[in-house]
Amino acid sequence: MGGEDMTAECYVITGKQRLAGAIRVSGAKNSSLPLMAAALLAEGNSVLWDIPDLADITQMRQVLENLGCRVYLHKDGSWQINAGTVSGFEVDERLMRSMRASNLILGPLVARCGQARIALPGGCAIGSRPMDQHLKGLRDMGVEIKESHGFIEAYAARLQGADIYLDVPSVGATENLMMAAVLARGTTFIHNAAREPEIVDLQNFLNKMGARVRGAGLDVIRIDGVECVHPAEHTVIPDRIEAGTHMVAAVMTQGDIELENVIPEHLEPVIAKLRQIGAMVQVEDDRVRVWHRGTIHPVDIKTMPYPGFPTDMQPQFMSLLSCAEGTSVITETIFENRFQHVDELRRMGANIKAEGRVAVIRGTEKLEGSFVETTDLRAGAALFLAALSAEDVTVLEKVTHIDRGYENLLEKYQALGAKVKRVAHGQA
Ligand code: UD1
Repeated sequence: MGGEDMTAECYVITGKQRLAGAIRVSGAKNSSLPLMAAALLAEGNSVLWDIPDLADITQMRQVLENLGCRVYLHKDGSWQINAGTVSGFEVDERLMRSMRASNLILGPLVARCGQARIALPGGCAIGSRPMDQHLKGLRDMGVEIKESHGFIEAYAARLQGADIYLDVPSVGATENLMMAAVLARGTTFIHNAAREPEIVDLQNFLNKMGARVRGAGLDVIRIDGVECVHPAEHTVIPDRIEAGTHMVAAVMTQGDIELENVIPEHLEPVIAKLRQIGAMVQVEDDRVRVWHRGTIHPVDIKTMPYPGFPTDMQPQFMSLLSCAEGTSVITETIFENRFQHVDELRRMGANIKAEGRVAVIRGTEKLEGSFVETTDLRAGAALFLAALSAEDVTVLEKVTHIDRGYENLLEKYQALGAKVKRVAHGQA
């Protein structure tokens, strides 16, 4: 047993404050990570705007630096990544294992350098998360892959275009394979590709670099290989999961929140459920206003690949539906172990029964403040939201999980009127 982590920090949240006001949504973490990896494909300085200041981003920066890239964060907020100085094809094992998305460097690195060696990312709190689809696609492109002792080694003098059929529309595999195919000889088709907005964002950046990618956002992506690409400048799309989380906060606190820097189309499945629940949602260009008074109606939710309801919003909606007037059913189809927030929500008075991938939520009149623990990023967000609407004080432990995905969360919520502070472990 590891014992207590004395460096851990907690949020202390006094609930039942009505949240109101406007906040700007940050750039998308899940877009920033592949875009940073894509910068590896070109020699010279690529510039990325609106990369959020998050722990996962810092780790991806370290991964790139470990490979010899020069990464600068300028005072104006832009990131400059110079991959002209790449000197290695192997990343420090500890760095690789600490963040799953670092596996996104495999495709661009083998395409650019002819070889790559990475540590296999471990499973994580929400499921086993294999990489078989990434590796299958690379093999289809002629990459020789060796897996041993927890490492993946990849070799290819030059990748060959291929027809790749993904068994599942994996976001990471689609991104990895798109990046690898950019420098392949000939044309690659990725069939049953993931359709998430972050994949469209990656296509846009790659094409600015001189790549020839079409079809992102549909289930077949075509990549015509080119000899080389050049550095480019790009602004990251807004974080749809951050936006969705704030929208749920507005409803749970009977509040009124206006979000700036949003692409409303990316949030359609979330907005549809909020309207069913009874919330008011007003959409205008790149802004969304959400407000709510009165009863929260129950709804059933099934997580699906985009444009279905996002698994990354499932825990937050479970908190919301815990306060509904009636019974809701949530079915999680993407990850096998994504109900870790259930026990913690129960500690706050929620009435939830979960078996396998299905959870039945019977709404209760009120949630109550308690000591609860964060197990992963979105579970943490769910508990944070529950605490905002609960009676009395909640101490939310291990909030570094939340830091991985929400830039300036505390400042944003304090500005909306939340009573929340961050304290060291043991001082709550
Ligand atoms: C990305 C997101 C994550 C989100 C998830 C699903 C990033 C950095 N993270 O994760 O926030 O929750 O999409 O929307 O963008 N699978 C396989 N074999 C593979 C790859 C995946 O079986 O080779 C399975 C996974 O176990 C999972 C499903 O496919 O059940 C979806 O995973 P995937 O889309 O790959 O998620 P990530 O890209 O890891």
